[in-house]
Amino acid sequence: MSLKPSPGETTPAPPRTPIWALLPLRVFLGGTFLYAGLTKILDNHYLDHTSPLGVHAQMLHAATTSPIGPLVSFAAEHPAITGVVVAVGEVAVGLGTLLGLFTRIAALGGFLLALSFFLTVSWTTRPYYFGADIVFAAAWTPLLVAGDAGLFSTTDRLRAAIRRRRPNVTPDGVERRVLLWGGLITAATAAVGGVIALTRRTTNPEPSPADPGTVIAAVSAVAVGSSTRFTTPNGAAAYLLRPSTDVFTAFLATCTHQGCPVTPAGSGFRCPCHGSTFDGNGQVTGGPATKPLGKVPVRVVDGQVTTA
Ligand code: FES
Repeated sequence: MSLKPSPGETTPAPPRTPIWALLPLRVFLGGTFLYAGLTKILDNHYLDHTSPLGVHAQMLHAATTSPIGPLVSFAAEHPAITGVVVAVGEVAVGLGTLLGLFTRIAALGGFLLALSFFLTVSWTTRPYYFGADIVFAAAWTPLLVAGDAGLFSTTDRLRAAIRRRRPNVTPDGVERRVLLWGGLITAATAAVGGVIALTRRTTNPEPSPADPGTVIAAVSAVAVGSSTRFTTPNGAAAYLLRPSTDVFTAFLATCTHQGCPVTPAGSGFRCPCHGSTFDGNGQVTGGPATKPLGKVPVRVVDGQVTTA
């Protein structure tokens, strides 16, 4: 059977390359990862190992619930390195995706980062599809398969520029030079991002007394022996307790067993999922949880209880 068109029959136009259909996804994922990385790098709390808002506190908490808990615990022993790798990795993935620089490798990086977030910070989200990270991991796979296919591709422009300047270079030589230039651009981006993040960490090693913190409640609004629910600046649910007139303490409202929200019970907390109980200092008084609730440092300033 012949596949040639018969006389008078027109050849169908080739389908438009589907890579254009991936452009909105590429822009969204690249922009989102770039934004996420920059906000981490510019956040004074991110690398502060004393802050409940920092990556160290997040890793300690995730280690209690993650299926890769031992790995997370190991990373938590090196919070500065882990934090910089994550933040700079997000920036590199975002830039590479937006600019079309080693797009497949950037997509692989994005997929691995999203997968690691799913296995740590999102692992306790129920049902699983309520967490964004599993969706991000899946969203990276089309770009992992297709790359940029030459569309708005910095890698291709690098290749073309090298061929123009050195017409006698072999194809292997061109690829080596592309790798070298791409590697230099990536390394320079990583170095700049890492230095900025570490500089901000070292210039803000402890919460500044001048830092007003985030107001949780007026002192007069929390009766002695009562508690009030609030949200930490990074969006985590927490409870403020006032066990005595001059004492305020606060804890994350996340059970350290499998991440269910705890609620106040008596002078402590109870988890409705499997019955773990915690005292007013966040310590476990009944399992299956084995780790205390995460503590949120607070202080009193001018009649207001604020985050420290
Ligand atoms: S999640 Fe199991 S006891 Fe809280």
